[in-house]
Amino acid sequence: MAGTVSYRVEDGIAVATIDHAPVNALSADVRQGVQAALARALADDAVIGLVLEGAGRAFVAGADITEFGRPPVPPALGEVILAMQASSKPLVAAIQGVAFGGGLELALGCHARLVGPRAQLGLPEVKLGILPGAGGTLRTPRLIGADRALPMIASGEPVDARRAVELGLAAALIEGDLLAAAKDTVRQLAAGPLPAPIDADRGRLDAPGAREAFEKAAEALARRAAEEPQVAAIIQSVRNSFDLPMPAALQAERDFFVALRDDPRSKALRHVFFAEREAARIPGQPKDARARPVARAAVLGAGTMGGGIAMNFANAGIPVRMIETDAEALARGQKRIAEIYAVSVKRGSLTEEARAQRLALIEGAVGLEAASEADLVIEAVFEELELKKEIFAKLGTITKPGTVLASNTSYLDIDAMAAASGRADDVLGMHFFSPANVMKLLEIVRAEKTSPTALATAVDIARKLKKVPVVVGVCYGFVGNRMLSRRTAQAERLLLEGASPAEVDKALTDFGFRMGPFAMADLAGLDIGWRIRKANGTRAVVADALCEAGRLGQKTGRGYYAYPEGARTGQPDAEVQALIERASAAQGIARRQISQQEITERLIYPMINEGARILEEGIAARPGDIDVVWLYGYNWPAWKGGPMHHADAVGLAKVAERLSVYAAQTGDATLQPAPLLARLAAEGQGFSALAAQAKAA
Ligand code: 3HC
Ligand code: NAI
Repeated sequence: MAGTVSYRVEDGIAVATIDHAPVNALSADVRQGVQAALARALADDAVIGLVLEGAGRAFVAGADITEFGRPPVPPALGEVILAMQASSKPLVAAIQGVAFGGGLELALGCHARLVGPRAQLGLPEVKLGILPGAGGTLRTPRLIGADRALPMIASGEPVDARRAVELGLAAALIEGDLLAAAKDTVRQLAAGPLPAPIDADRGRLDAPGAREAFEKAAEALARRAAEEPQVAAIIQSVRNSFDLPMPAALQAERDFFVALRDDPRSKALRHVFFAEREAARIPGQPKDARARPVARAAVLGAGTMGGGIAMNFANAGIPVRMIETDAEALARGQKRIAEIYAVSVKRGSLTEEARAQRLALIEGAVGLEAASEADLVIEAVFEELELKKEIFAKLGTITKPGTVLASNTSYLDIDAMAAASGRADDVLGMHFFSPANVMKLLEIVRAEKTSPTALATAVDIARKLKKVPVVVGVCYGFVGNRMLSRRTAQAERLLLEGASPAEVDKALTDFGFRMGPFAMADLAGLDIGWRIRKANGTRAVVADALCEAGRLGQKTGRGYYAYPEGARTGQPDAEVQALIERASAAQGIARRQISQQEITERLIYPMINEGARILEEGIAARPGDIDVVWLYGYNWPAWKGGPMHHADAVGLAKVAERLSVYAAQTGDATLQPAPLLARLAAEGQGFSALAAQAKAA
């Protein structure tokens, strides 16, 4: 798709319109187009100045991220901006939509900026693991002050039109005809001496106390700077705006940009950006599939999940009935919700008024009949298939045809529930993650007979609830929990072979997770997995022994760790160590010292292997979908891009080779490389090759 910059002259003023759908990213042809428009305006004696505008919903969304891996094509954005600053005629940016990253930097090359009511200005580069690379870290401080520019650049959060004017990023907010106002501004500027470009005026850098205020803002970012290289670079580059002449500061910013852009961490974050958007495209979904409106929702069960799910609807302004079997269970659930909202009010993240509004949207009810009016029902009762089938059979008769019937089951067979309902086309899974009011992932489970309309409705409502939906297929545990179970099995096995819970957890926190599997199990409660194993007739010797000893995790003060007097971080416990050693002996396993590297590989690679099986079976459509599941459902570190991206970064040949070694070492056949993994490894490919194929198809 060729980017275009159209050029016209109206009333002696040139208007360059950037029209490069969907978001006017600054591809090479757009940069060339802006440069050419400027040259034309300067060469034409009948033209007094130039307005730069964007067509469609965006002004300019920034650099074209898809160009990042490729050889650079001139002109660089920085050169275009310098040429704009050297212009002898006034340039005005008319910003009607998003001016992000390079888009805002381009606007900073103009003599003035006007914003429309829907404008948003921001420098989101930090989220991609980079920093603004075309003067953003240097010109913004001059304009709005370094102490304000720094948090804006380090957070990547945009400001709206009103705030942009308050800050001084834009001259005025225009409610009416933005282009007409921009032309007026050109005329005014052309009538007097041309204002100095930002580079020629230190602006707010020389305000009294500016340096101190900046250093204070930098201090507040010290922790992030230690963990995120782009944040450290942002701080230093903004600091350079005080200390270095503009050309040297621009060069230093550019050097930071190139180094960060080529770092695997930024590559991973860019992968996440595209994978998230790709996941929104549902394979096999007919183009004309439309979501049904959901005016009223119902949630069955007011337990851990039901309550959190109901809160999601209330937070989105959608009335929801939360239904229980008896008044007591309902009251317990309502109390828990009230407590969570009260904490938000206390923390200042929710107003008293909003709290009251949200609580009023959640109506408690007893008995399934209360679901009959809903447009969407989400079942979150106990994890028992017979109970769920019974409930779906009733739902099939009491709800209106077309009501979407969803289950929040973690593992169970949605097809069986669908069959029981007698309305299989309306049935699917909507698998939230705990805590459901916080975690952003929503696995949407497409069952064998789920209709495109039901699927579209679930995806649409997921977005309204501000969730990240990923469509997956039916299998035991779907994508996330199925992969997790491989990690859980290895974690337990590593204990038996000689590792301590703390060593296993450390491997994962060093990898970038916030918590290791055992700290996590202690937090969630060991009884959850115990109940599931009992139902399935499986065993995990260490975990089962802990449960039998009454060590159910933090809630009992003891689990894999000890939590003396309500401590939230556990301490290693000799009793647990002894219990593990007895279990090893009973299994005849000789304990040994296990390296950190082996622990990490044995936790991560089996998950990747399971991910390969999931792809092979078509349970997930693309490797990126699996990555999105892990990022938003399990807090996989974003700068490692998700398990499948990570596998590509390591190299599939190495992953396959290590899996073979561990399969032989442990005698565990599930560790043998999955056929898809083995094939890609042999071909020297990555999972990304599948993503490219899926996109082409
Ligand atoms: N480059 C290339 N493609 C981009 C893009 C960019 N900067 N921004 C968005 N797109 C693509 C998306 O991939 C998507 O493509 P698809 O339809 O094929 O999936 C399409 O544009 C629409 O994007 P969204 O689905 O996100 O649409 P929304 O309307 O929800 O959001 C947006 C639009 C607010 C612009 C959002 O896309 C966004 O935040 N984009 C990223 C902006 C960004 O990070 N800019 C900084 C880039 S780095 C930079 O500028 C460096 C400079 O300092 C030198
Ligand atoms: P829970 O035990 O906290 O809550 C279940 C609630 O359902 C109880 O309050 C119970 O009284 C109620 N209930 C039972 N039968 C009912 C019926 N016929 N009608 C209405 N309410 C009824 O369980 P939890 O943890 O909330 O799990 C619910 C479902 O969500 C399960 O299928 C579980 O697998 C799934 N899930 C759980 C997650 C978790 O981390 N706890 C995460 C994702 C899914």
